[in-house]
Parts: sequence; structure tokens; C-alpha cells
Amino acid sequence: MPRAIRVHQYGGPEVLGFEEVAVASPKPKQLRIRQTAVGVNFIDTYHRSGLYPVKLPTGLGMEAAGVVVEAGSKVTAFKAGDRVAYVDTATGAYAEERVIDASRAVSLPDGISDQQAAALMLKGLTAWFLLRRCYRVKKNEQILLHAASGGVGLLALQWATALGAKVIAVVGSDAKAELAREHGAAEVIVGSQEDLVERVRAITRKRGVPVVYDGVGKDTFFASLDCLKSRGLMVSFGNASGPVPPFSALELSKRGSLYLTRPTLFHYIAKASDRARGVRELFEVVASGKVKVKIGQRHALADAAQAHRDLESRRTTGSTLLMP
Ligand SMILES: NC(=O)c1ccc[n+]([C@@H]2O[C@H](COP(=O)([O-])OP(=O)(O)OC[C@H]3O[C@@H](n4cnc5c(N)ncnc54)[C@H](OP(=O)(O)O)[C@@H]3O)[C@@H](O)[C@H]2O)c1
Repeated sequence: MPRAIRVHQYGGPEVLGFEEVAVASPKPKQLRIRQTAVGVNFIDTYHRSGLYPVKLPTGLGMEAAGVVVEAGSKVTAFKAGDRVAYVDTATGAYAEERVIDASRAVSLPDGISDQQAAALMLKGLTAWFLLRRCYRVKKNEQILLHAASGGVGLLALQWATALGAKVIAVVGSDAKAELAREHGAAEVIVGSQEDLVERVRAITRKRGVPVVYDGVGKDTFFASLDCLKSRGLMVSFGNASGPVPPFSALELSKRGSLYLTRPTLFHYIAKASDRARGVRELFEVVASGKVKVKIGQRHALADAAQAHRDLESRRTTGSTLLMP
């Protein structure tokens, strides 16, 4: 029987169990996939801990790549043997085999490997919607990006740079600063060593930035607001340090009539046409070589707990994969 990571109760990485699971035959519009590479995302830790509640027991993981083993009777776009990848709201990607809705799958072109795709579907589409939909970054604009050497971060850093933006990258260590520079950062701030707001004011000649992309959350939220120019946009898209606590809307007013959004990828790819557009732009920018996929860590599927420990303790760079 195939094996998968399962969670029976919320908690730390130790609640991740590696178990045999029965995998059903696909329904008419589904695919059964033998997975070759699975992407690890910070959201998986929120599902594990209960910060984002899911029905227990549950599988974990939202992106992977693999080969179609069996296609449901009404599936026309895919057949057994096809290479595919997906991002899906249904958790359960940490598995050797699984069944997914065919509408979630995309065919992989020759230029995109399984491992690249598994590292890209959720994180790369996040970079896409942040830079191309939520706020369209412009040439020569100075923008602020937190956790710029992380999974979403390195992709967004390179893509924004390719679009002509000057990225001010915030990272947690000197080694990560070097990585951010290698991937195109115009300026790098090591958050633990420097005053974020002072540095951004100096870099932007006191003007501030038009947009901040902040996936760190609690620890950086108000400093990020202080880096914005009048009527700038705060994109608070994650909780790596914990969720942002409730606050008064006056905090936005007094800092210059700021805008705030708390977006989620799945609202930006809910329509099939939007999802297809995002995937096309993502694969194009990767195929062009402007955005390189850095896989910083690989673990056996059974070692998912270690992958979570490393991600949550800021020991990772780029994307993390689990190898079934
Ligand atoms: N809204 C959406 O649709 C969406 C989609 C995808 C991801 N996200 C969010 O984007 C963020 C990045 O996701 P990812 O999977 O690519 O992870 P990641 O960036 O690879 O890892 C998180 C990074 O956050 C930084 N960080 C700062 N304070 C931290 C703390 N107290 N604990 C842990 N990390 C801390 C660390 O980088 P430094 O050491 O350099 O500071 C760490 O490497 C997450 O918040 C995630 O939830 C949101």
C-alpha cells in the first residue's frame, strides 16, 4: 500500500505520522498520481499546528508533481503516463500516491522538471499573484520584500527584478543576504542587525516604498507600515512569525492613508482562466531563465517532520522538497 504523512491531532512536527493509506480509484473527473516530488510550504505548518484549522485526521501539503497512473472516465486532457503538477486546497500532497481533481492538474512542459514544478506551483503562483495581480510592480520602482531568500521570497525577488523593480530585500542572516544579492536584490537589509525603517527611509531618500510584501506577519507588521509612502499598499500575506494581532484602522490613517490587503493565492486562482494565465506566465518566466528555482533542501517523505523543524526555525533557503 502507498504511504503518506498523516496528522491525527494538532501540534508540533512530532505529530506527523508516516502511514500506509488506501488510495481509491479516481472518480470520472479525477486523476490518480504517483508522485515524484512534493513541495513544502509554510502553510503546511499552519495546518499541522491548527492555526488554519482542517478536519482531522488529515493529510498535509498542497503542491506536488508526478505521473498519472490512472485517469477517470471523463478526463480528456490527461492520460496514464503524463507528467503533471498541481496546487490544491485539499491537503494531502505529502504522499507517494494520491487522487486529485483533474481540474487542478497542469501538464508539465519538457523545460520544467518534476522537482522544479513541485517547488513552483504554490510558491511561484504566489509570487505571480503578488507581483502581477495584487499590486503590479513597475520598472524602476523600489519595493520592499521580506524573507527574500525563502521559498516564495527568492522567486518573487527574481521575478520583480526581471520586471525592472528595485527590490529592497529583508533577510535574517548574512548568508541569506548573500543569496538575495546573487538573485538580484538592489539593496539588502539584515533584519536582526539593522533598523528596518531607518534603512528603508535612507535608501528611498525619505520617500518610503509604494508596496511592502510581508509574509513574516506579527514581528514585522508595524515596521512594514512605517516603510510605506503616503497611500502605499501593505500586502500582508503570511504569518511566519505568528499572525498579526488585531489593531485599530487609525494606524493606517496616521501613517499616510495607507491601504492594507491580506490576500490568499486561492482567491486569485479560483477561476480556471486565471489559474491557467498564472501558470503560463510562471512557466514562461522560468523557461526564460529570468527566474531560477533554487531547491535549498530535499528530504525523504518520511522525514517531513525535519523539513518542518528546519522551515520554522529559519534554517532553510529557497524551496524545500519531500522525495517520495
Ligand atoms: N497568502 C498566500 O496565498 C500565501 C501563499 C504562499 C505563502 N504564503 C506565506 O508566505 C510566507 C513564506 O512562505 P514560504 O513557504 O515561502 O516560507 P519561507 O519564506 O521559505 O520561510 C519563512 C521565512 O520567514 C522568515 N521568518 C521571519 N521570522 C520568522 C519566524 N519567527 N519564524 C519563522 N520564519 C521567520 C525566515 O526568513 P529570514 O530568516 O530571512 O527572516 C524564514 O526563512 C509564509 O508566511 C507563508 O504563509 C502566503
